[in-house]
Amino acid sequence: MAQDGSRKVYVKSYGCQMNVYDAQRMADVLAPEGFSETTEMADADLVVLNTCHIREKAAEKVYSELGRVREMRRDREAAGGAMQVVVAGCVAQAEGGEILRRAKGVDLVVGPQSYHRLPALLDAARVRPVVDTDFPADSKFDALPQPRPERTRQRGVSAFVTVQEGCDKFCTFCVVPYTRGAEVSRPVTAILAEVERLVAAGVREVSLLGQNVNAYHGEGPDGAAWTLPRLMRRLAETPGLARIRYTTSHPGDMDDDLIALHGDLPAAMPYLHLPVQSGSDAILAAMNRRHGRDEYLRIIERVRAVRPDIALSSDFIVGFPGETDADFRDTMALIAEVGFAAAYSFKYSPRPGTPAADNVAQIPEDVKTARLHELQALLDRQLRAFNAATVGRTVDVLVEKPGKHPGQMVGKSPYLQAVAFEGRGAQAGDIVPVRIGGLGNFSLLGERADIEPDRESA
Ligand code: 5AD
Ligand code: SF4
Repeated sequence: MAQDGSRKVYVKSYGCQMNVYDAQRMADVLAPEGFSETTEMADADLVVLNTCHIREKAAEKVYSELGRVREMRRDREAAGGAMQVVVAGCVAQAEGGEILRRAKGVDLVVGPQSYHRLPALLDAARVRPVVDTDFPADSKFDALPQPRPERTRQRGVSAFVTVQEGCDKFCTFCVVPYTRGAEVSRPVTAILAEVERLVAAGVREVSLLGQNVNAYHGEGPDGAAWTLPRLMRRLAETPGLARIRYTTSHPGDMDDDLIALHGDLPAAMPYLHLPVQSGSDAILAAMNRRHGRDEYLRIIERVRAVRPDIALSSDFIVGFPGETDADFRDTMALIAEVGFAAAYSFKYSPRPGTPAADNVAQIPEDVKTARLHELQALLDRQLRAFNAATVGRTVDVLVEKPGKHPGQMVGKSPYLQAVAFEGRGAQAGDIVPVRIGGLGNFSLLGERADIEPDRESA
């Protein structure tokens, strides 16, 4: 097999941040096989669609994209070239061989637990199409190669690190326990080694990922199961690592230590994504969320007691089966009470194989649409209010890259807001204080607070 980097792989990722992480790992597995990444599908010898199954719309996108891929493949083959096509991710896991029946021109269907076997699977797929949706006994994490430092650096100063995968909660709307399997936590030493390697290559911020990240219970070097806050405290000792984030959390696993850490660990960013889904106790029970509305509100109170400025984010589902107007009002009231800095909201989408999909009390599409609009309008107002409250303050910005205008740099505030400012020597990876002067379309606009404006422009 060619080892010269002459072959090109195009990876397109859908859905969550874990898929972004997985896409990078797939590229890392393929690099020693001679593949370099391309951003142009038409140039690719290998096309990987890393798919999402969470809602019907996301899953259906794959099939329309496969139509486009098939045309590209035909063009390439007509010109004497070749293209292998891989469907990876959660649609692959959920639909398996059905994908080969529904879409022509797919060589390999591979589930999220088998990426480390990609080279062997691709070889086998040269003979006939292959489906691999096993949950293998060997962990992919042990077998995945690490990228070269230059590659890590190109990916930016903020990196994702999956520390936990799968979910044992079985919310009645959700496919994750089926597509990603049971909860598994990576061992502490493996995570420390990965983070140290990232930091050595210039990474300043890590986002620890897991479908249920605050249920993390990986084996520590002492043989004991470590919790997420214990892991974060240890990671914070890594010289050069400035910021730690984590997502996604379940309210049921917000323990005292994790809440306390937001008050006393400077590296822990003041941002918490804590999905509530609904503000109605009846709907939360029907969703099998294992907590009520008041419990959620009490957690928020406790987090704010130790970190009053924390940015809160959540996921919401409207139109869950049986959701009455009164239930929806409860959700609106909860939002009004909390005040969110960010949010993701969705119409309920029945997923095959999940209990809620069989519920007879499905909500009509027009009701879902109206509720979603109303809810998003409120959340948009809250998001704008949160950003507006930053105007006049000075915030530390982790500089990521040059902005659209000459001399401009962009980065992130501790609250995960995008900030654009006149760089004046700031480099990617620096953390600089920026005084926020106003709101742009997609970011906050500010000036460096550590350099006198007059002295510089003279
Ligand atoms: N329909 C709509 N939204 C869903 N989510 C998960 N499953 C569904 C579904 N069947 C949303 C939840 C979850 C987020 C990742 O996606 O809000 O927190
Ligand atoms: Fe899905 Fe619920 Fe698990 Fe989140 S906690 S991944 S919504 S089953």
